[in-house]
Amino acid sequence: MAKSVGILTAGGDSPGLNAAIRAIGKTALSAFDMQVIGFHDGFRGLVENRTVRLDETALSGILTIGGTLLGTSRDKPHRMPMGDKFLDMTNTIVETYQKNHLDVLVCLGGGGTHKNAFRLMQKGLNIITLPKTIDNDLAMTDSTIGFDTALTIATEAIDRLHSTAHSHHRIIIVEIMGHNAGWLALGAGIAGGANVVLIPEMPYDIQIVADAIRHRLRHGKNFSIVAVAEGALSIEEAKIMRTAVEAKEKAEKKEDKKKAKIKLDKLKTQQIDNTLHFSKQLENLTGLESRVTILGHLQRGGTPSAIDRLLATQLGTTCVSLINEEHYGVMTAVKGKYIESVPLEEVVGKRKTIPLDHPWIETAHRVGISLGN
Ligand code: F6P
Repeated sequence: MAKSVGILTAGGDSPGLNAAIRAIGKTALSAFDMQVIGFHDGFRGLVENRTVRLDETALSGILTIGGTLLGTSRDKPHRMPMGDKFLDMTNTIVETYQKNHLDVLVCLGGGGTHKNAFRLMQKGLNIITLPKTIDNDLAMTDSTIGFDTALTIATEAIDRLHSTAHSHHRIIIVEIMGHNAGWLALGAGIAGGANVVLIPEMPYDIQIVADAIRHRLRHGKNFSIVAVAEGALSIEEAKIMRTAVEAKEKAEKKEDKKKAKIKLDKLKTQQIDNTLHFSKQLENLTGLESRVTILGHLQRGGTPSAIDRLLATQLGTTCVSLINEEHYGVMTAVKGKYIESVPLEEVVGKRKTIPLDHPWIETAHRVGISLGN
């Protein structure tokens, strides 16, 4: 019997998602005669059984389009806002899966989506996932759909900021996405020729950052570009954050846990003002004027790069081969030049941050980029 495939996209959108949906759909329809339906808005669409038939017409003309035609959300199956309550909706999801006579549910997403997909697998659903996040911080895969496009956008932004920083003899601090990992900031910082790059993996010392800028001043370079990942912290802030994380982990009682989470979330939001405060401090320490540019969601929008389209298409077609072989409970992962399958339990609960001995770190040092430590 022809297989029935469900697809959803969850978490933050990424350029290349439509290319992946197209690849799964086209391969499933033409090479294996499968049925394909999409669920709207991530796991919420599964709860509400909101579907769209992905036939040749629906899959046509979407390769180059950013975002996701299915829509997305950050809703979690086991804790979904329903009216004024959070409810565990996993059983409803299982019912939707059965109602639609699905053989497999394909989930495209990042770390959060993988945790959610794994929960559904434990409920007995056949699951395959595709790695997607512009942050590139998903474990067990060399790269993720959307990273290359976002890297290109952030690099172009740094290129453009150079001329205005140079003309006004200013420091320009460019904030780049990545709360937990600095792949985008470091990659774009090297590719765009930033002078300082600050990443979550390496807490910085502002005096060292100021020294690097003053060193440039002494050598006649009266402007500097500082690329900062959203999650970059000073050495002092990193200590406070670590204590808050430990407190949250230790909190046994539910109420305490809630309080510790609120405290941690508050600390994380404070990071938004952090970049502005950091900019003021640098002005005081260097005597140069400083401006902040927050790239934000620009990094997630628009046409996917050729690399992302290629990657999404490879991951999507491999996913359908796995469905055909009934090889479920896995993520399609990039390993060097090849696409492989990795058991979901090896992916969930981990995060791929930049190892301190990663070649990009050495490269940055060699071209004289200060990493603030
Ligand atoms: O997709 C990951 C990410 O891009 C992070 O880098 C960023 O902090 C976050 O999403 C913001 O997403 P949103 O505004 O959609 O919650």
